[in-house]
Amino acid sequence: MHIRQLTKSNVNELRSLWAEGLQRMPSAFLLTKDELLAAPLDRLADGIASGVYLGAFRAEQLVGFVIARRGGVQRLQHTGDIGPLYVAPSAQKQGVGKALMQRALDQLAQAGLLQVELTVDADNAPAVTLYQSLGFITFGRRPRSVLVDGEPRNDLLMIRALDGADLCLDPGAD
Ligand SMILES: CC(C)(COP(=O)(O)OP(=O)(O)OC[C@H]1O[C@@H](n2cnc3c(N)ncnc32)[C@H](O)[C@@H]1OP(=O)(O)O)[C@@H](O)C(=O)NCCC(=O)NCCS
Repeated sequence: MHIRQLTKSNVNELRSLWAEGLQRMPSAFLLTKDELLAAPLDRLADGIASGVYLGAFRAEQLVGFVIARRGGVQRLQHTGDIGPLYVAPSAQKQGVGKALMQRALDQLAQAGLLQVELTVDADNAPAVTLYQSLGFITFGRRPRSVLVDGEPRNDLLMIRALDGADLCLDPGAD
């Protein structure tokens, strides 16, 4: 198993794995499967070329990925957001998700970002546990954050400093 930055040549396998994840667990992603499949491949390829798109490969087969982006405008350049993260069932519970996340955090820290945020479905215990194990702290809960097939879902908002700073969060929020 190894992890590396994806390139434009991986665009088809990335979209296939992403679509598989959407099929298996729609509430773990923002896009719908139809939206993902309708998006031009060129746009996804451009995203790969401009962001942190990490893939986990087993025998050269893509089995997991994570995407991270730096804030776009000047005043958000110190912060980034992470997601989606997905590991195929056959590769789950073997440390792949944690390794993908750790590599993304390392790269963002090396690029000079001070903090990173993500949102996660409040009922997604495996993901919440994973993020907590990497030092993410819950700083809010967004009720009815998304409608998944018409059903309201709540999100947790999580943050992690990349420079060791104490973000002075209310300890009662977690
Ligand atoms: C969440 C997900 C990425 C975890 O990937 P993974 O490769 O199985 O995770 P790892 O093996 O690296 O596990 C790392 C830690 O996460 C937590 N974790 C992972 N799976 C878990 C589970 N089923 N139940 C509870 N905790 C779990 C544990 O703390 C684990 O550490 P441990 O093995 O020392 O106990 C994977 O389950 C997945 O792709 N789920 C569907 C998509 C999704 O939920 N993405 C996140 C959306 S925000």
